[in-house]
Amino acid sequence: MEISQPKNQKEILITNIPGPKSQKIRIEEEQYISSGLQGFALKAGIVVESASGNLIKDIDGNHFLDIIGGIGVNGLGHSHPKYIDALIRQVHKVSVGSFTTEIRVQFFKLLDSVKIGELNRVQLYSSGSEAVESALRLAKNKTGKWEMVSFTGGFHGKTMGALSLMGSDFKKTYSPFAPGANIIPYANCYRCPFNLTYPGCGLACLEFGRAQLKANVTSGVAAFIVEPIQGTSGNIIPPKDFLPGVKELAKEFDALMISDEMITGFGRTGVFWGSQLSGVIPDLMTIGKQFGGGFPVSGVISSEEYNKVLPWGNPSGSSSSYGGNPLASAAAQIATQIILEENLVENSKKMGAYFLEKLKPFADRYSFIGEVRGEGLIMAIELVKNKDTKEELSPKASDWIFNTFLQNGLMTMAYTSRFRIQPAMTIDKGTINNIIEIMVKVFDLVESKNVKEI
Ligand SMILES: Cc1ncc(COP(=O)(O)O)c(C=O)c1O
Repeated sequence: MEISQPKNQKEILITNIPGPKSQKIRIEEEQYISSGLQGFALKAGIVVESASGNLIKDIDGNHFLDIIGGIGVNGLGHSHPKYIDALIRQVHKVSVGSFTTEIRVQFFKLLDSVKIGELNRVQLYSSGSEAVESALRLAKNKTGKWEMVSFTGGFHGKTMGALSLMGSDFKKTYSPFAPGANIIPYANCYRCPFNLTYPGCGLACLEFGRAQLKANVTSGVAAFIVEPIQGTSGNIIPPKDFLPGVKELAKEFDALMISDEMITGFGRTGVFWGSQLSGVIPDLMTIGKQFGGGFPVSGVISSEEYNKVLPWGNPSGSSSSYGGNPLASAAAQIATQIILEENLVENSKKMGAYFLEKLKPFADRYSFIGEVRGEGLIMAIELVKNKDTKEELSPKASDWIFNTFLQNGLMTMAYTSRFRIQPAMTIDKGTINNIIEIMVKVFDLVESKNVKEI
């Protein structure tokens, strides 16, 4: 079925950015909103009026091409017409409560049609962190153990259990954390902590992790939690044998393997589940972001055997106030239906390959691009001061690049030196060409003005 989103989308700029109307409303909001909103929203300073496909429109009449894509939430493209209709229909019927609805059953059936292994049981929640916490609780109940393993650079949310397993210094100042958190190296090959090269390294990161765990685990590991591709850390794509290695390690420790598919699930990588990129079937999956089409829905997928563990499986044992309510279920059902009937998994694969082919030459053309990588429609550009040392660009240089993209009509995550790209899965070649045109223009400026030195 045809993709029902506009094609060949292009930026329109009619004011300085942010425009006068945006500035006025932002000043009003600043009086009320707490600090700490997502960085790109603060930096962009625009007030959004509406959006469609890969285009965001502000109240000053400017249109921006959007390759942030809600950081993985915007799978369907903004305001997909079938999504709008389905939510309107549902809100007229019922929104609240955990009673069974036909729409929820329809969603489960769709999800069952794409299941891997025995993973056929779903519990729904409203945020990614909430689903991760629930998966950790399930793993504790199943194994009777409580230690956990996660990875450097890993991000699973900002609640306390997830924070304990976070592989970055974002968590500083929030201790004490849940005890028993073991963090071992992820296969970040561009910045290998051992200065080795794949495949000659023999996945030294996992070997090191194994030794670390043997020395550190005192009681027993309940679960390993891993992103098939690390999102927050910079869309880091590990070698194909990394995830199978993690699964093996989890087996060795008699622990469950949780694949956190928040970003990689539902087709973005060109296959339905990120785990499928390396043929691994995890014990549990956590899901979120794009299967709600913007509505906050998340979930834990487990098996017949695992979902019955107690007390997780008791009545009200793993439930929540909003989990699987009729509106959330309608959103999940229509988003999954659109992904399947409009072949968005295949489109991610094809358009991802096309996008990457356009981006790859940048690594030779520009002195400040250390690496370009991608898997389907999850891509990244490493912005560096020096290609040999891989020193990252200064925050000032990154801000300059982000702002210049913005002034040219492209909404990006170039405000950090691991520039992540994840447009909607409905994107087409024409829109990609228009994005690339802006990128070439801005990167040429970065080169000619020697922005990497600021
Ligand atoms: C892999 C992964 N897991 C969990 C989360 C947490 O999701 P949420 O922000 O919905 O709590 C995120 C959010 O970015 C994520 O990328």
